[in-house]
Amino acid sequence: MNQSLNSAMIDDAQARDAQACADRFGEPGFEDIDRLYIDQRYDGYSDENQEVWRTLFDRQMEFLESRASNVYLSGARAINLVRDHIPYLEGPKSINHFLKQLTGWQSRAVPGYLSPKAFFACLSRREFPTTIVIRPKESIDYLPEPDIFHDVFGHVPLHADPVFADFLQTYGKAALTATDPEDTTRLARLFWFTVEFGLIREDDRLKLYGSGLISSPGESKHALESPEVDRRPFDLDTVCDTDFEIDHYQPILYVLDSFEQLRDAMNEYAHRILEKHGQTAGA
Ligand SMILES: [Fe+2]
Repeated sequence: MNQSLNSAMIDDAQARDAQACADRFGEPGFEDIDRLYIDQRYDGYSDENQEVWRTLFDRQMEFLESRASNVYLSGARAINLVRDHIPYLEGPKSINHFLKQLTGWQSRAVPGYLSPKAFFACLSRREFPTTIVIRPKESIDYLPEPDIFHDVFGHVPLHADPVFADFLQTYGKAALTATDPEDTTRLARLFWFTVEFGLIREDDRLKLYGSGLISSPGESKHALESPEVDRRPFDLDTVCDTDFEIDHYQPILYVLDSFEQLRDAMNEYAHRILEKHGQTAGA
């Protein structure tokens, strides 16, 4: 981990054990999901970290007020996502305090990368693994790896919506169950084109909801305005057949009619996967 990412916050015995568990998750002795999580150790944030949060929040929220999905914007208000401080994950002022009552989702701090299996196991329990470090000032416009701005500002407001909340848990259960490599590839594409880079039509206008768009000033403008983007109507099988590219702005985006459309499509796909494995959908 880069020193400038305030790595002292994730450099102790607890974090090392959690990362070891993440790296070997699923092997005998490494099945306990709770061992993946760490404390946020909020005192570790520097003044510069807090300033980076405020700068990013101000800059992006102003842009999003008229361009993000209403579901995202009302979720951000409902979890009390504010500019004044990096979000707390624990305690009465935390986003989790509000999320718990709304949908039961929780954001849980992790020290770093999780394997897909570990990540899906968390989602299947309505737990969202969350990076707690924040990008340094000199990388304020772009950071290739997730940080708390991407993970919390970008992802978590949608977890306050009951329909999206159900979708994401069903996704986690299906992805955890899937063993066919074709399903694994298709589910990764579905995640990419919805959770990370999804657009939605609301009141006849295109709006942003994918976290990779929401948390990126450059990409959010490009997604809505660039004539080079191929914006296609969402269709589960078409999305799952589409390859994605990771190191530049997205040339193809998919547009939902509603989050119910996404939830229903996911339920259908989960049903297919669980049937293959002799399990009951929704179990
Ligand atoms: Fe993400």
